Amino acid sequence: MTFNKWTIGSVHLANPLVLAPMAGVTDPAFRQLVKGFGCALVYTEMISDKGLIFANAKTRELLKGPQSERPRAVQLFGSSAESLAEAAQIVEETGEADIIDINFGCPTPKIVKNGSGAALLRDPSQPAKILQKVKDSVSLPVTAKIRLGWDEDRSEEIALRLADAGAAAIAVHGRTREQFYSGRADWEPIARICAKVDVPVIGNGDVRTPQDAKRMLSETGCQGVMVGRAFLGNPWLAREILTYLESGEELPPSAIDERIAFARRHLQLVVEQRGERQGIREMRKHLGWYFRGLPSGARMRERINKLETLAEVENLLSEYQKNFV
Ligand SMILES: Cc1cc2nc3c(=O)[nH]c(=O)nc-3n(C[C@H](O)[C@H](O)[C@H](O)COP(=O)(O)O)c2cc1C
Repeated sequence: MTFNKWTIGSVHLANPLVLAPMAGVTDPAFRQLVKGFGCALVYTEMISDKGLIFANAKTRELLKGPQSERPRAVQLFGSSAESLAEAAQIVEETGEADIIDINFGCPTPKIVKNGSGAALLRDPSQPAKILQKVKDSVSLPVTAKIRLGWDEDRSEEIALRLADAGAAAIAVHGRTREQFYSGRADWEPIARICAKVDVPVIGNGDVRTPQDAKRMLSETGCQGVMVGRAFLGNPWLAREILTYLESGEELPPSAIDERIAFARRHLQLVVEQRGERQGIREMRKHLGWYFRGLPSGARMRERINKLETLAEVENLLSEYQKNFV
């Protein structure tokens, strides 16, 4: 069986699986890994509109990635329609994006206090106004990623307005801003939105297993299923989900030596892209996730946080393999 193709604007997607944008996580190396296991669409980390406009070199760096990971959605955050539209034009000119996504969901105080992210959900008409302006400024498809609302569920109204304004797709995380990441994501509003809007909806929140992904698709009627935290230290989950959705086959979870092989591949990509010193620093948190739930995982995390060179990391991984595999 093959997947039903779906599209966001003119972008064709081979299957429903989408890698969620995660700041500090979904850099090119991580995206490449998850893409390598079949994920149809990847998002960059959220990128500041102001950073792009003021030509901040570090911010511009966030736009880039390998050709092999495309189609790539570039996610922008900001508080005003004008500057988001200007940033979107910059993104379009670089040719680095297939889709431009706007962040209407980030709950962190640093972002919402500037009126960005989930702060834009306080007034349910605001996301649509912003999206309209951005859409009128570029020819790439423009999508929105929302939460259910600020402190109560207003998602249906927000999504209907976004669809009217010409959103090419809407990703919905089934929590309010006030919930942050607590409790369980509510998928019911996602189902309601799917029944009401005629643009693709991407369901998000607490998809951790292949069975969850299947339920998200069947219970809500969404076209895309977006996975974030469950991929941390486990890019292999993409293959497990896609195999299960396609054939119902449950692949065994990755064994310890496979996990270490993924960590090694990840390490190699990060060091290639960032250099040894910076790469190892960035890899520490990922390595911690790879060892989550494994024997002596906590002890490994402590040791990993002190490592500085590639040789030290390689030695520690080999030592672990000798002891536990
Ligand atoms: C470390 C981390 C960083 C995140 N950064 C972003 C971001 O940059 N943009 C965004 O829209 N959502 C961001 N999110 C939210 C995720 O995209 C996703 O909506 C959320 O984690 C729920 O999905 P999950 O249950 O599959 O993790 C982030 C989440 C985490 C855990």
